[in-house]
Amino acid sequence: MKVTVFGTGYVGLVQGAILADVGHQVICVDVDADKIERLKQGHIPIFEPGLDSLVKEKFAAGRLSFTTDAAEAIKHGDMHFIAVGTPPDEDGSADLRYVLAVASTIAEHMESDKIIINKSTVPVGTADKVRACVAEKLAERGRNDLKFDVVSNPEFLKEGSAVADCQKPDRIIIGTESADTVELMRELYAPFNRNHDKIIVMDVRSAELTKYAANCMLATKISFMNEIANLSERLGADIEMVRQGIGSDPRIGYHFIYPGVGYGGSCFPKDVQALIRTSDSIGFDAKVLKAVEARNYEQKTTLFEKIAEHYENDLAGKTFAVWGLSFKPNTDDMREAPSRVLMEALWAAGASVKAYDPEAMEETQRIYGTRDDLTLCGTKESALKEADALVIVTEWQSFRAPDFELLKQQLTHPVVFDGRNLYEPERMERKGFSYYSVGRRAI
Ligand code: UDX
Repeated sequence: MKVTVFGTGYVGLVQGAILADVGHQVICVDVDADKIERLKQGHIPIFEPGLDSLVKEKFAAGRLSFTTDAAEAIKHGDMHFIAVGTPPDEDGSADLRYVLAVASTIAEHMESDKIIINKSTVPVGTADKVRACVAEKLAERGRNDLKFDVVSNPEFLKEGSAVADCQKPDRIIIGTESADTVELMRELYAPFNRNHDKIIVMDVRSAELTKYAANCMLATKISFMNEIANLSERLGADIEMVRQGIGSDPRIGYHFIYPGVGYGGSCFPKDVQALIRTSDSIGFDAKVLKAVEARNYEQKTTLFEKIAEHYENDLAGKTFAVWGLSFKPNTDDMREAPSRVLMEALWAAGASVKAYDPEAMEETQRIYGTRDDLTLCGTKESALKEADALVIVTEWQSFRAPDFELLKQQLTHPVVFDGRNLYEPERMERKGFSYYSVGRRAI
């Protein structure tokens, strides 16, 4: 099938590549000429396992191409994905400017019938807005003869496993009222709909809300566990035992109940906020969502609070090794990353940071530039040298079994603040560390 994808961010680029991989003919469009040029040269703008080779391969095979020329791309596709950003505007609601601009461009150039597929996470009612926008433009052009449908087909990929998630989706949600559209969407996704039927067809608004409900439910699990972790610390319980104790109930499950330093990334914070704003806008008080957001906001400061308490608020002139800067492992993404809240709090208190991350060093440099109180380190070991303590913010695999003797030698004092519960408190005690973790007693 002939597919056009608007937006070459995480969602658009991955979607375009996996569709090209199964044989569809895909053109990706972006307004960023620089990015398109770099993509043509084989520079993939994001770090995502498997994406680099997939994009290069499909590009070389001529099944995936990149352009800034919207008219040409619209001529090409029968199916048009909208995968552009929906950044939060000042009050936290999703800004639909880019989505509607794409809708309007499609309507401006289309000369044949089209299926328009909303892949971006968009508030309930957006498909109706896209539909109205396209219809209005077509009427202006006197082309009411052209037919189109707007489908909600939300994406559930996770950063760090985006390619695999798209290639093997748990479910494919198709929101449309048209049986013909369902047929076309089934054909498009047939290569991914193996083993059992993963396609769930529903009305457009339910599909739109499904995406928010999924992310908000997951964010709720995390905030809930962080709340119980805070309680555990105060009650002398061990959250790791509690986690296993409740996870063994299949109704709760072991997934997504890891306490930590709060959720970050491009989705959870933005989507929880957007659904709160949607609720507010219709006069509904989303009490649970507001609590989820508030808990997360506070959780991001807990690691700093433990540090401040340990040093009795005297952090001026101290140096901290920080391991893990991306919001989670296997990505270089630092959007809403807890590491930023931590480092900024340390700096505000007069401390310095020696930072290391396996992938996010460039991103850290881009965000913070050069500053006296930040040293970017090439290895996790070099970050430790002469630091007063180690702070772990992201649970990269390579942090799980460090050389503890070396750690002790390099740090000026054997103190570890662990925001991800990577180590056993008893073992750390035996090794002679002061060890602070989440939801467990400090030693
Ligand atoms: C998320 C959803 O998982 C995905 O389905 C959706 O399409 C986009 O948003 P992503 O933001 O890439 O994906 O990351 P995810 O792996 O879900 O982690 C989100 C955040 O939650 C991270 O900051 C992570 O550290 C945190 N988290 C996750 C926890 O603190 N505890 C957990 O148990 C799980």
